Amino acid sequence: MDAQAWDDRYAERQQWSGDPNALVAELLADVPPGSAVDLAAGEGRHALWLAGRGWEVTAVDFSAAGLARGRERPGAERVEWVTADVLDWSGPGAPVDLVLVAYLHLPPPDLEDLLARAVGWLRPGGRLLVVGHDVDNVEHGVGGPQEPAILHGVERLAPVAALLEVDRLARVTRQTPAGAALDTVLWGRRPVGARR
Ligand SMILES: C[S@@+](CC[C@H](N)C(=O)[O-])C[C@H]1O[C@@H](n2cnc3c(N)ncnc32)[C@H](O)[C@@H]1O
Repeated sequence: MDAQAWDDRYAERQQWSGDPNALVAELLADVPPGSAVDLAAGEGRHALWLAGRGWEVTAVDFSAAGLARGRERPGAERVEWVTADVLDWSGPGAPVDLVLVAYLHLPPPDLEDLLARAVGWLRPGGRLLVVGHDVDNVEHGVGGPQEPAILHGVERLAPVAALLEVDRLARVTRQTPAGAALDTVLWGRRPVGARR
């Protein structure tokens, strides 16, 4: 979907719950606040949640309509909102403590290239958290995009994981009102001593 299609979708109605994804909230619950980039932030549910916990967050998305929904929410003034295509965005001005990428689905090699660049935006020890629909969700889960080529998977994210000290790379189940959905999670740290 291009930016116009996402704008149309966001203009129609709020798309996601205002709450963070449960796994995102669980993994980040005990991480001390610092600087963060929320790539493809949409309506900003994660950016706003992080900002509420003391993080300095830059939320990037190419849908101005999506970001506009986030900007209307309480606490929005604590987030820096950037309307940009993540594939063109030059990255944060200084190394960050966290890059979060939630449910951004791009064909190869765009996703792989973007995530490798995102690792380079982290300070040594900084964390990358990627969560998205797993390719097996098409046959064995509910919801989400149905084109296998853009979906995540442990194998697909393995080359990005190889750039990190990995705490978790796995297929996980997410309960939804419609049934169980399958996601992939990549959660790791940029090695201390890695070159920028
Ligand atoms: C499924 S939504 C997820 C939004 C948010 N991360 C969340 O979890 O609530 C996917 C988002 O990716 C954005 N997106 C897709 N391709 C993009 C691109 N090339 N550059 C910037 N944003 C993009 C869309 O505008 C949309 O807001």
